[in-house]
Amino acid sequence: MKNSHDLPLLTIGQVSKRCGVKPSTLHFYEDKGLIKSWRNSGNQRRYKKDVLRRVSLIKAGQKVGVDLKSIRVALDTLPNSRTPNKADWEVMSSVWKSQLDEKIRYLEKLRNSLTGCIGCGCLSMSNCPIYNEDDFLGNNHSGPPLLDK
Ligand code: FES
Repeated sequence: MKNSHDLPLLTIGQVSKRCGVKPSTLHFYEDKGLIKSWRNSGNQRRYKKDVLRRVSLIKAGQKVGVDLKSIRVALDTLPNSRTPNKADWEVMSSVWKSQLDEKIRYLEKLRNSLTGCIGCGCLSMSNCPIYNEDDFLGNNHSGPPLLDK
């Protein structure tokens, strides 16, 4: 089967095998608007070959902890929903690297705070950096505010 550009279309099984993801994952990506398929006359899904690159990008993003919503936002910046090229990937990965660096800094801070809690057990609302019973600081802060001290 070929599409309007005379390129061969892939079945869901072919995409699944080439990308190493389950067909149900492809359905999920499609439901989230991350990839697109067409239906043949038998109402079966068909994909353009560039879906392979999009799925690779989605998997790469997920592997470094980027949520699907952010991946969708990045893909939506591409004109006419085109497949990301090398330059696009460089921009996206650079943004994601910054986000990842920020997460790493936060987790290191959390780890260091946790180290102080190990063996302590006080769970003090005023002193413990990871404890905040009933979200008493929630009106003025988001996240665990004592970590920012
Ligand atoms: S449990 Fe005591 S400071 Fe966190």
